[in-house]
Amino acid sequence: MDPELQQAFNDQIALELSSSYAYLQMAAWFEARDLVGFASWMRAQWTEESAHATKFIDFVLDRDGEVVLQALTAPQSSFGSPLDVIEHAHAHEQRVTASIGALYALAQARQDYSSLPLLGWFLNEQVEEESSVRQIVGELRLIGDDSSALLLLDRELPARRGRVGDAQA
Ligand SMILES: [Fe+2]
Ligand SMILES: [Fe+2]
Repeated sequence: MDPELQQAFNDQIALELSSSYAYLQMAAWFEARDLVGFASWMRAQWTEESAHATKFIDFVLDRDGEVVLQALTAPQSSFGSPLDVIEHAHAHEQRVTASIGALYALAQARQDYSSLPLLGWFLNEQVEEESSVRQIVGELRLIGDDSSALLLLDRELPARRGRVGDAQA
């Protein structure tokens, strides 16, 4: 593998693991506030991001590259509201999308065409992830300070993970 591309894949592995870590922290934040549906949704994301990291790790190994894991920084743990948490998650997903886009451009520039199908899969995945998080942002904005509506959404969220057509990593 091209050394710079290999480094970029290793950076992406670290970013996926950071995502996983961040979602686990967000799950704990919701659990502590008795919003168990949100917590369950966040835990599902935690698992999924961990699977994303593994998918990249397997790919680097299949390409005879070297995987080097990096230190993870502590995720943000203090939030003002459920909306604040979900907006944070949305911004994070946008950052991940940009990172995969840059990786795709680098693979193209290095004529590493074998990387493109995997990176294309991840770009599709990011469209779905950004969309599902953005929907929750919108719903929480509509909910405002209505606790009853917040509890209804909390009950409904876990079922959303199993929606037909959802990409399961
Ligand atoms: Fe991911
Ligand atoms: Fe994600």
